[in-house]
Amino acid sequence: MLLTILWIDKRDKQDNYFKGADASWPHKFMSLRLKYFNNTRKPKGILGKAMIVRMNRHHTPLVSWALSHFPNDDINTILDIGCGGGKNALELLKLYKNAHLTAVDYSKVSVNNSRKMLRCEIKNNRCEVLEQDVMNLTLEKDNFDLITAFETVYFWPDLEISFKNVLDCLKRGGKFIITHEADGITHNQWDGVLDGLTIYTADELKEKLLSVGFSSVESFHHENNPWIVVIGTK
Ligand SMILES: C[S@@+](CC[C@H](N)C(=O)[O-])C[C@H]1O[C@@H](n2cnc3c(N)ncnc32)[C@H](O)[C@@H]1O
Repeated sequence: MLLTILWIDKRDKQDNYFKGADASWPHKFMSLRLKYFNNTRKPKGILGKAMIVRMNRHHTPLVSWALSHFPNDDINTILDIGCGGGKNALELLKLYKNAHLTAVDYSKVSVNNSRKMLRCEIKNNRCEVLEQDVMNLTLEKDNFDLITAFETVYFWPDLEISFKNVLDCLKRGGKFIITHEADGITHNQWDGVLDGLTIYTADELKEKLLSVGFSSVESFHHENNPWIVVIGTK
């Protein structure tokens, strides 16, 4: 399985390797690749597990850049929504040494993988991983200092409902941080290709956050890559 992931991943990075595939590559291989990448939205089955391995690796540079914009404040309670394989949650717990983190995802494969990744932190009562949909969060209100969403808001079906749910869970003064590797300006190969994917600009996210009641929003753009971090404060 690992070899297949590495092979697909390597080919993906090569210049337009798959783009001329309609004529020269077997159709079934192309649909397998699409099926594999559609697991970014809700990892499921064997391809979902493979995607989790890829995401944990692929998102590392993006996440370390994003973390450089995170607050230094005393953070005691963190919620990571759409936690995927749990690697970002682990990084957050290293950064905020006194914090307790709740990780949620609506994919069973993601939840199971995060529980494996975070087993020591769970054992030490620093973390819990729950199967929850951001559209219907059943978590304590006004409870979190920090809520994070790495590479997941693209897939949330209704920003107004989901952002209101996030706002409800934040403490006053708490921060909601969205990190995306696509800025909605630079061409992205998956736009219009992956199921349920909407790529937003930082300004669109900012406007929506303010409209649901966040008191202020700031954003950062990577100097060379189309990466954005958008921070809403309650
Ligand atoms: C592209 S992956 C990113 C995973 C991880 N945050 C990372 O950066 O590696 C998107 C994750 O968001 C989850 N997700 C998408 N929509 C969701 C929703 N409505 N509620 C909860 N999780 C969701 C998916 O199941 C998937 O695990």
